[in-house]
Amino acid sequence: MSLYPAFPTSRPRRLRRTEALRQLVRETTLSVADLILPLFVAPGRGVREPIASMPGHYQLSLDELAREVREVRALGVPAVLLFGLPPHKDPVGSGAYARDGIIQEAIRTVREHAPDLVVMTDVCLCEYTSHGHCGVVENGRVLNDPTLELLAQTAVSHAEAGADLVAPSDMMDGRVGAIRRALDAAGYAEVPIMAYSAKFASAFYGPFREAAESAPQFGDRRGYQMDPANGREALREVELDIAEGADIVMVKPALAYLDLIWRVRERFHLPVAAYNVSGEYAMVKAAGQLGWIDERAIALELLTSIRRAGADLIITYFAKDVARWLEER
Ligand code: PBG
Repeated sequence: MSLYPAFPTSRPRRLRRTEALRQLVRETTLSVADLILPLFVAPGRGVREPIASMPGHYQLSLDELAREVREVRALGVPAVLLFGLPPHKDPVGSGAYARDGIIQEAIRTVREHAPDLVVMTDVCLCEYTSHGHCGVVENGRVLNDPTLELLAQTAVSHAEAGADLVAPSDMMDGRVGAIRRALDAAGYAEVPIMAYSAKFASAFYGPFREAAESAPQFGDRRGYQMDPANGREALREVELDIAEGADIVMVKPALAYLDLIWRVRERFHLPVAAYNVSGEYAMVKAAGQLGWIDERAIALELLTSIRRAGADLIITYFAKDVARWLEER
């Protein structure tokens, strides 16, 4: 038996009659206040190198980054997530935790030019290692425990440079705990961790790897990132990260994993982030450029669906566009 009287007594269309009525009963809102914009930082000066598979995104040198974050702030986007392209790569990714590394400098630049922007940093080694894997490699294998020390060092160097939050994306076991202990020991107990908890080995990262020049030079990431077929395991990953001290948990990618955003939201009581990844962005852009879809309408619908699924925060390459679109509405 239904809780509601049936037609003709019940007519759901009554509340859809005008935009004002629709707004009153709208369950989900999309606001720029919940968006985080990823940015790619590169060496040099005056560099604003377009990323072919991500129209509207660039590899930026520090001076261009300064310009960019002033614009980002003016648009009302509250946070950026920084990725670095180091001048040199080596087997242990030492550029990731160098005091004067590209990201450490980028953090200082954002701090200076947009002081109230929330500065988040991706903590991972893959952009900094010559082999392109997210950890230390020995005999063709990515070692877990020796990697933890380097990730912890990386996170502390970000906090030292002024990062507001660190976001480990490597998927090594135990990294949230290792980073939490290292941050606390270094006097950064107040710096939160947004854990890429359920991060899948996804083909949707393709354009990002071009942008960050971080494709693995041999093999793939399936030995540490999750199997796209597994949902229960994702909940276990989230549970472990929370136990290790995560402050925000993430599901990544977003669109092919909306069910998991929902399940994580239902089961846990921490803020849930979703990463609307590069391939998701590229597909919408490409179809939009071909005139096959209405880019703006599709992007807003997709982002709203990620919020409806239960994400509190969304990391998206559309953040600046959304800020403009919502202003026009
Ligand atoms: C680094 C990292 C990746 C992404 C975020 N952090 C790439 C990967 O794991 O290969 C992907 C982001 C995107 O596709 O937008 N480990």
